[in-house]
Amino acid sequence: MDKTISLTIKNLYVSIEDKTILHGIDLIIKSRELHVVMGPNGSGKSTLTYALMGHPNYKFKDQSSKIKVNNTLINTLAPHERAKLGLMLAFQNPLAVPGVTLGSFLRTAYRELYKNEKIDLISLHRQIQQTAKDLRLDEAFLKRAINDGFSGGEKKKAEMLQLITLKPKFAIFDEIDTGLDVDALKSVANGIELLQKQGTGILLITHYQRILNYLKPTHVHIMKSGKLVKSGGAELVKIVEAKGYADF
Ligand SMILES: Nc1ncnc2c1ncn2[C@@H]1O[C@H](COP(=O)(O)OP(=O)(O)OP(=O)(O)O)[C@@H](O)[C@H]1O
Ligand SMILES: [Mg+2]
Repeated sequence: MDKTISLTIKNLYVSIEDKTILHGIDLIIKSRELHVVMGPNGSGKSTLTYALMGHPNYKFKDQSSKIKVNNTLINTLAPHERAKLGLMLAFQNPLAVPGVTLGSFLRTAYRELYKNEKIDLISLHRQIQQTAKDLRLDEAFLKRAINDGFSGGEKKKAEMLQLITLKPKFAIFDEIDTGLDVDALKSVANGIELLQKQGTGILLITHYQRILNYLKPTHVHIMKSGKLVKSGGAELVKIVEAKGYADF
C-alpha cells in the first residue's frame, strides 16, 4: 500500500429508529494516520462505526451526508462491499458465530480480499498462527467457533487477529483496549502500530489514555452529543484524563 487514500466523512447526520444520534460529523482519515476519538458514554462513537460500515438500521438524514473512499461515494454500499473497498471494524461487542471456526473464517476472508494475488496458503496459516501467538491467543482458538464462549479479552484479541491478518485500508477499533490485561494491551498496541506502518488509516475509539502510552495519535477528536466538538493532538487526551469532558 504505497498510495495515500482518504476516507472522507462529510456532514454525517445519522438516526436510528427516528432518533438522530449523529449531528453533522466531518472527518478525513488518510493512510498511515491514527485518529483517536474519545467521548462520554452514549455520545455516538459506536454509532459512527456502524454508519461507516453500513449497518442497515442506521439511516442518513439526506444526501448531504456523505462517506467517500477517495472519490467513490460508499453511502449506499452494503457492508461486504465496503469491506472489499478496504474498510474493517473491530467491534465493541463482537458477536459469536457458532459453526464457523476463527481459522477458516480468516483464511476464507483473506482469499476473498486478495483473490487477485498469489496466496501461499501454508505461509498464510503460519502467519495467522504467529499473530495469534504474538497476541497471546492460544492456537486452539483458531479451531473454535468465532467468539463462541470466548472471554471478553479473548474476543478483543480475536478481533485484533482479524485486523492484522486482513490488513484493511481503513481500520476502525471500537474500544479494542477495554478488558485487556496489560500484556495483551501492549501486543494489541503493537498490532495497531504495525498496521499503521503498513499504510492502514486508523480510527481508534477509546475511553482510556493507557493504550496511548504505546501509540502516537496523529489526531485526537472529542465527541459529545453526536458532534466532534474539538480536534487536536495528544494534548487533548491529557485534558480528558485530568478533567473529564466538562470543558469541551
Ligand atoms: N436502537 C436504538 N434505539 C434508540 N437509541 C439508540 C439505539 N441504538 C443506540 N441508541 C442510542 O444512541 C446513543 C449513542 O450510542 P453509542 O453506542 O453510539 O454511544 P457510544 O459513544 O459508543 O457510547 P459508549 O462509550 O458507552 O460505548 C445512545 O444514547 C444510545 O442509547
Ligand atoms: Mg460505544
